[in-house]
Amino acid sequence: MKGLLKFITCGSVDDGKSTLIGHMLYDAKLLFTDQKRALELDSKVGSRGGAIDYSLLLDGLMAEREQGITIDVAYRYFTTDHRSFIVADTPGHEEYTRNMAVGASFAELAVILIDATKGVLIQTRRHARICSLMGIKHFVFAVNKMDLIDYDSSRFEKIKREIKMLLAEFDYESVKIIPVSATEGDNITKPSMHMGWYKEETLLSYLENVDIDSVDGEKGFTMPVQRVCRPNHTFRGFQGQIESGKIKIGDEVIALPSNERANVQEIINCGANVQAADKGRAVTIQLDREVDVSRGCVLASGCKPLVGNLFTVKLLWMDDTNLATGKNYLLKIGTKKVPAVVMNIKYKIDVNTGNEVSVDSIYKNEIAVCDISVSEKIVFDEFSNNLALGSFILVDRLSHMTSACGVVLHRLSRSDNLTWYTMDVTRKQRSNQKGQKAKTIWLTGLSGAGKSTIANEIEKRLFAVGKHTMTLDGDNVRLGLNKNLGFKEADRIENIRRIAEVAKLMNDAGLIVIASFVSPYERDRVNAKEIIGSDDFIEVYVSTSVEECERRDVKGLYKKARNGEIPNFTGISSAYEVPVNPNITIDTSELSIEEASDFVMNELRRYL
Ligand code: ADX
Repeated sequence: MKGLLKFITCGSVDDGKSTLIGHMLYDAKLLFTDQKRALELDSKVGSRGGAIDYSLLLDGLMAEREQGITIDVAYRYFTTDHRSFIVADTPGHEEYTRNMAVGASFAELAVILIDATKGVLIQTRRHARICSLMGIKHFVFAVNKMDLIDYDSSRFEKIKREIKMLLAEFDYESVKIIPVSATEGDNITKPSMHMGWYKEETLLSYLENVDIDSVDGEKGFTMPVQRVCRPNHTFRGFQGQIESGKIKIGDEVIALPSNERANVQEIINCGANVQAADKGRAVTIQLDREVDVSRGCVLASGCKPLVGNLFTVKLLWMDDTNLATGKNYLLKIGTKKVPAVVMNIKYKIDVNTGNEVSVDSIYKNEIAVCDISVSEKIVFDEFSNNLALGSFILVDRLSHMTSACGVVLHRLSRSDNLTWYTMDVTRKQRSNQKGQKAKTIWLTGLSGAGKSTIANEIEKRLFAVGKHTMTLDGDNVRLGLNKNLGFKEADRIENIRRIAEVAKLMNDAGLIVIASFVSPYERDRVNAKEIIGSDDFIEVYVSTSVEECERRDVKGLYKKARNGEIPNFTGISSAYEVPVNPNITIDTSELSIEEASDFVMNELRRYL
């Protein structure tokens, strides 16, 4: 008997996916008597005029039945005399691409349905591309509804050619194209009576026999460390799941990223000591000497995953909001979670043609190749070498939703030859010399809210009491350092990133920085806070309303923006996201400059 096969079925709404699997289970007598009876009864009132509607078996959810579509990912388990299967049934609609990617990430083989009356569609291409992106190397194309084209072999051959052309772009190991009728049962479990010209295997028999073992091109042992277990001072075990290869007692392992070596002293699996363990096992490993390992590190043997902070990836964007370069996310790879920035979008891949298209941002359900930079050196690998260390997700830092999933194509070595040089005179010494705490006071709010005025006033007051200060102001910085940036989202992200880096350098120099920028996006302010350091970042929200700012219109910009002369003007044609948790909030509409500055200075006393 062959081992377990995990597969996914992909098809558009009416391609007959659920019917196909339902029919397979029914024919292969894989149903309990009560399930079979319920199906026969349900079908009497169903949409097939009393004939059995096999899709009812699969579309278990009420909503699915009501709308006639499949939602979410449904996992089905079944076993024949020859093999056990887990099938992920996922919705075909573009809006459910996320679910399909989830299903595909678990599967070894994809059964892609094609409606014989329609041939290869954009959806077919999208499904194949997503499966390939998620690492599937074995494909079955079930050309369904052959009954509706009179079991015509020439039309089948034409579709076969279309499929072959589509596959030319993919890196796959096996492909099988089978003409079927899911409703009538042709070539599902029994050879079709209507297609004598097809002499090959039926779908079930193919799935029972297909060899998928060769997909595992992974060399060597890798285990991302999930937890360091220290029940007492004599035992220090590293826990995790073996993602590739095999390990036995006595083997030498390398701990990454620290590059230290040690030998395996003990392996515990399911509470018992074992001599060896292989891929898929959750184990605790004790080494024969102390090594620097914490969650997110990787133990490896017989291979060497990569270490770095910059790499090129291919990703599927799944977020409702678009991806713009410079945005900050959390990247999860193996057991490691780190802040990450999409540095640039090299190109997006046209789902239909496979062409590379140059773009500034990517939208939901699009696939793109990008460069990603992470905040520290992490352990990863190329996806073709190691599935677990080569695949990642990007998590939105505010909503905690998964924004993208993707695979690592290769490492970029640009930053490999750079090493941080630690100076003898420290930031603390520099600020002590000035008799102050180096902080960044970050004023955010609409144009005309009073940020620059308050910044100016605060600096004068701090200066007067002998503090060493520096003010960074929106228009001023844009006239110099950032003169190459405009007001599009990606430019604003870069504007704030640079200012945060400058503020941090000035804090390093021991200065108190007053930064006054519209900084309309919450995630950019979070990013600035991270660059500067959360203890040294004081967020002041100048909350003056847009109506008041427009009434003042000191620079005449609101008028211009209303006339359509300034695109992306914050408050008018571009959003301002109110700070979630500012340290200080001030509305200048009801206060004089004097009063507003008194208030802010008084609040600042807690921090400076
Ligand atoms: S930010 O959004 O990137 O933080 P920043 O504070 O540097 O903006 O610059 C804002 C200043 O640029 C405003 O005070 C205003 O004078 C000017 N400005 C010009 N065009 C725009 C625009 N489209 N949106 C906002 N401010 C603009």
